[in-house]
Amino acid sequence: MTRPGDNQAVPGGKTVLVEFEDKIAWVTMNRPDKRNAISPTLAAEMLAVVDALEIDERCGVLVLTGAGDAFSAGMDLKEYFRETDGLSVEARAKIFRTNAQWQWRRLMAYPKPTIAMVNGWCFGGAFTPLIACDLAVAAEEATFGLSEINWGIIPAGIVTKAVSAAVNQRDALYYIMTGETFDGSRAAQMGLVNEAVPRAELRRRTVKLARTLLEKNPAALRAAKLAYRKVRDMSWDDAEDYLFAKMDQLRLLDPEKGRDKGMSQFLDDKSYRPGLGGYRRDR
Ligand code: COA
Repeated sequence: MTRPGDNQAVPGGKTVLVEFEDKIAWVTMNRPDKRNAISPTLAAEMLAVVDALEIDERCGVLVLTGAGDAFSAGMDLKEYFRETDGLSVEARAKIFRTNAQWQWRRLMAYPKPTIAMVNGWCFGGAFTPLIACDLAVAAEEATFGLSEINWGIIPAGIVTKAVSAAVNQRDALYYIMTGETFDGSRAAQMGLVNEAVPRAELRRRTVKLARTLLEKNPAALRAAKLAYRKVRDMSWDDAEDYLFAKMDQLRLLDPEKGRDKGMSQFLDDKSYRPGLGGYRRDR
């Protein structure tokens, strides 16, 4: 495993840790004594990290997780809310904007695959980066909750919107309105995460998933995931046009010319079946 500074520095190191391992960048919210609550400092550090990893070749897949027994207990009630109450409108807006930048604006449009690995407590504001990541694996033992209603507020930031994009209306309203907690298995059942595994298996399963993604053509993967995000809010006509354009653009931008390789390995060499696995990228 290499660490920042081994050959090329990345930001972070205090409230956010970054470790590289075989093209996986492990990005860890690191305030375990505060259950990784998201403070303005963590938000700023995370934005810098996410920005840096976007063009760092050691990062082929970004995995977001938390140190200790929490993924994240959500926004820091003291540092993010109470201590910003007295600030000017402008100063407060700047802090909130920085947080929105990493939590969803950057992550949702991230050019590299992202996986949230939910190792433990996951509350409120932590749902936003969870849902903004492309894929998510949780520990069965993890505890999730939209606890806002329990202390007299609503799931704001963009949490309510994010939840509505990830789970069905009945489940969304149930947990928004009751504030009840649920475990990783329930999160998987309602589609908030892709799957839940015993905590002891969590890292191994996440690595396996990351490796599957690392085997794919990165240009095609980038185009595929970004296209999915874009077309969701388009009309069918616009989506069809956009997807044609993106398909043509990919043929220009893909340095390994995957379409040609895949086509010739299937049609000419008859050396692989696209329905049964990937084309040989090294040929
Ligand atoms: N904001 C600020 N501080 C938080 C925090 C948050 N969201 N979540 C936990 N902390 C702090 C606690 O205040 C405590 O700090 P202290 O040691 O200085 O007293 C420390 O983290 C440990 O928390 P504690 O409650 O003792 O841990 P626990 O393991 O018993 O319980 C939780 C964990 C997550 C269930 C509990 O901390 C909790 O309910 N946190 C709030 C979750 C929430 O509603 N988040 C929504 C915010 S949008």
